[in-house]
Amino acid sequence: MAAMSLRMSVITPKLFGKSSACPKPSSSLAMSANFECGRTQRQSLSLGVERRGCATAAAAASASVGGLTISRDEVVREDDPTNNVPDSVFSKIGMQLHTRENHPLGILKNAIYGYFDETFPDLFKKFDSLSPIVSVKANFDDVLTPPDHVIRSYNDTYYVNADTVLRCHTSAHQAEMLREGHTHFLVTGDVYRRDAIDATHYPVFHQMEGFRVFSPSEWGSEDGTAFAAQDLKRTLEGLARRLFGEVEMRWVDCYFPFTEPSFELEIFFQGKWMEVLGCGVTEQAILNNNGRDGTVAWAFGLGLERLAMVLFDIPDIRLFWTNDSRFTSQFKSGQLGAKFKPYSKYPPCYKDISFWISDQFTENNLCEVVRGIAGDLAEEVVLIDEFTNPKKGKTSHCYRIAYRSMERSLTDEEINELQVQVREQVESKLKVTLR
Ligand code: DAH
Repeated sequence: MAAMSLRMSVITPKLFGKSSACPKPSSSLAMSANFECGRTQRQSLSLGVERRGCATAAAAASASVGGLTISRDEVVREDDPTNNVPDSVFSKIGMQLHTRENHPLGILKNAIYGYFDETFPDLFKKFDSLSPIVSVKANFDDVLTPPDHVIRSYNDTYYVNADTVLRCHTSAHQAEMLREGHTHFLVTGDVYRRDAIDATHYPVFHQMEGFRVFSPSEWGSEDGTAFAAQDLKRTLEGLARRLFGEVEMRWVDCYFPFTEPSFELEIFFQGKWMEVLGCGVTEQAILNNNGRDGTVAWAFGLGLERLAMVLFDIPDIRLFWTNDSRFTSQFKSGQLGAKFKPYSKYPPCYKDISFWISDQFTENNLCEVVRGIAGDLAEEVVLIDEFTNPKKGKTSHCYRIAYRSMERSLTDEEINELQVQVREQVESKLKVTLR
């Protein structure tokens, strides 16, 4: 059977468009996830142990974002069935990669700020240290996400408890910003999604949200929505030119719950069409519900990793998190698009695991177990074989896990040790039967 990448078989939360970290198209195969699987297939706290410096680092007791202290014990709660945040994810809170001036994400964020500041002096207010812990209401309801949307599932989103999540997009701040009276703003931050393991997916990535409100005097006798759509397109085409140069662009109609009409901007770059961002004219209900009736607005959201990977030639999303100076020393504030020169690539080590799946089995849960044990050594998890035994009515999956360090050669011994743990936890946590 042909190898199928896990990325292709798991849905990347689709509704908000594609997962913003992923430059490649993802399949639209729907995956049903339910509360139950989030509850029974949770990550263990004991995974947060440093193993020879290669696996997940021990999580600190607290993190700090914008002066707010977030305690681990409030976010990682193993015995709370409404919580599915593992230590490996908690350990990313407070890292604030986008605030590092010499980091590709910081360089890109500052280039976008520069564009808005020059084009609209003193107009857009910037926020980049809002807490990633937000209410379900802010993350979903306030931006009109349908109650049955798959992104709300425990399989796709990290829940702190039934009412609180790690934001899965920066759109989570739209309503709150409006209520606080802001009308022109850019919100940048880390966002969290349960997802596959491969070169373009990581459970934490970064987005920037842009929002602009217009008052009736601005659109005058024109149609307000058409006026906003036109301004939006002009603004974002200018941004794309600032980042990518004189590229060919096209607008694609699409769907987001929070905008109507909704668009994606694509550019023709390095020989192919690439999605740059999602945007649209804000749904009137969002404005009305948050003290801005009678206005119209536009909004956009873009994934910083996705754009940084192509602008800086960064081949693997894990690199954004490395402290290896062979990576970090290559980027300097203000140098947008300096091309990353790969240092020697260490060999991968492949291990297969086969099991009979159960009804609750999901690939996101498998990936969570693998990441919990192997941390950033987990490079890819791919479904390489699948069959159903008609007599037993059981389905078997075989996954190939690629382990590879960005920094050093791995020994057989350490990978074998990791794989033993993966096998144990896959069996105990995912309620599958190893073959
Ligand atoms: N929140 C969307 C996502 O995560 C991105 C997005 C699309 C933001 C359209 C917007 C928007 O503000 O108008 O995929």
